[in-house]
Amino acid sequence: MTRKRALVFDSGVGGLSVLDAIVASGAPLDLDYAADDLWLPYGDKGDAALRARVPALIAALVQEWAPDVVVIACNTASTIALDAVRAAVAVPVVGVVPPIKPAAARTRSGVIGVLATPATVARPYTDDLIARFAADMQVIRFGSTALVAAAEARLAGGDVDGAAVREAIAALFDAPGGDRLDVVALACTHFPLLADDLAAAAPRAVAWLDSGAAIAARVMDVLGLAPDARGARPRRAGFTGDGARVWEAFAGRGFTARAVIGPAPGFAVAPAPAQPFG
Ligand code: DGL
Repeated sequence: MTRKRALVFDSGVGGLSVLDAIVASGAPLDLDYAADDLWLPYGDKGDAALRARVPALIAALVQEWAPDVVVIACNTASTIALDAVRAAVAVPVVGVVPPIKPAAARTRSGVIGVLATPATVARPYTDDLIARFAADMQVIRFGSTALVAAAEARLAGGDVDGAAVREAIAALFDAPGGDRLDVVALACTHFPLLADDLAAAAPRAVAWLDSGAAIAARVMDVLGLAPDARGARPRRAGFTGDGARVWEAFAGRGFTARAVIGPAPGFAVAPAPAQPFG
């Protein structure tokens, strides 16, 4: 039987935290990945620009790679463009949005943190999730693009900017009510890649929640799949920018082919030139 294929999409390497969860779930899927790293970070881009670009880019990738499901493994893109992407493609689309509902279910103190990009923390989508699931709680929000850059640096084999981590921790724990904070929703897919750094810098142990496992379960549900001994298999990853910088992180996860995604309006996909690892 032909295996189903998923396309995992993010601005950069953050979607790898979701891809890792899909692999860990044992979903019998072939996995392609696309990073819009030319536009990284999405967290400082305008809403209208993202609503124009993301659906067009994903539609071109769906046309080229024919996935059975698209995973928008990016809170910043999902909270502004999920409906537009769904309208642009004929396959199911699973979005990643801030895990505020599970954070609200988990807290005992009634104080939760939301760590995301500056765009995501300010979005009406996030306000709505808080109003629906955490209306009676205190929610401490912090948006950081420095942490996105830190995660990119880590996966490119470099050092993490400790100041970015400390700034985020201080913003959460030193805020009014932060002394009672017991759960943090990691509402940017880059941030689980820094989970150890964040936990080590925090003044005490708290729960750090991300959406990865829930997304993996949702993808299987949408496709009517169950975990299988053969599991998931990463295949190819395309980049709008310089994928070579982070390619080792992809190769280390089993990706075997790198592709170059050309500019808008066509976003034509071509194999990366020879010596792709340089
Ligand atoms: N990984 C993305 C997210 O989940 C955004 C990072 C960025 O490009 O700003 O929000």
